[in-house]
Amino acid sequence: MSGTVNLVELREGGTQDLYNVNIVMQEAFDPRFGEAWTSAQCLGMLSLPGVWLVIASIDGRDMGFALARVIADEAELLLLATHPAARRRGIAGALLRAVIEEARGRGVVRIHLEVRSGNDAVWLYRREGFEKVGERRDYYRGRSGQLFDAHTYARDIKDLD
Ligand SMILES: CC(C)(COP(=O)(O)OP(=O)(O)OC[C@H]1O[C@@H](n2cnc3c(N)ncnc32)[C@H](O)[C@@H]1OP(=O)(O)O)[C@@H](O)C(=O)NCCC(=O)NCCS
Repeated sequence: MSGTVNLVELREGGTQDLYNVNIVMQEAFDPRFGEAWTSAQCLGMLSLPGVWLVIASIDGRDMGFALARVIADEAELLLLATHPAARRRGIAGALLRAVIEEARGRGVVRIHLEVRSGNDAVWLYRREGFEKVGERRDYYRGRSGQLFDAHTYARDIKDLD
């Protein structure tokens, strides 16, 4: 997979990209909320069948990534992040659309995701056609032990043009 959206370049990632993914992860996710994954978690997930990584770079620097998984005809967006220095330049939108396109190519008809209640990412997900379908109480555990609800969103992608 490859492509260009404005100055954002997208490519399929692999285990060799996890060092940079971890840098973006640590910068992107506020530790208060417990959403970030460790490198070991990313490596473990990426080793599973049906899991893929998309990397976004600007001027050769990796600034964002998405991790997704397909199971049968459904997919899940597991992680989506943009380095704070490169926000609001369309990176996450481009990554999300690339995940949707790849999922469609793999025969997926519906894509799911979980997001912390109150996360700004909800604006992006709604803009890209996702609708809230459920809630998970106390899903995320923050750095100080506080618990945060997750909201589940989904979008049908079967009939896209
Ligand atoms: C959420 C996140 C991925 C957005 O990344 P981004 O590259 O800045 O997003 P984009 O530039 O593609 O934004 C696309 C649209 O989403 C919406 N959006 C993104 N960030 C927003 C914010 N902070 N407030 C309101 N709307 C926002 C806007 O509609 C935006 O379009 P616009 O800039 O033309 O108004 C980024 O803020 C991030 O990494 N957050 C921490 C990690 C995280 O919470 N990830 C999601 C859960 S896994």
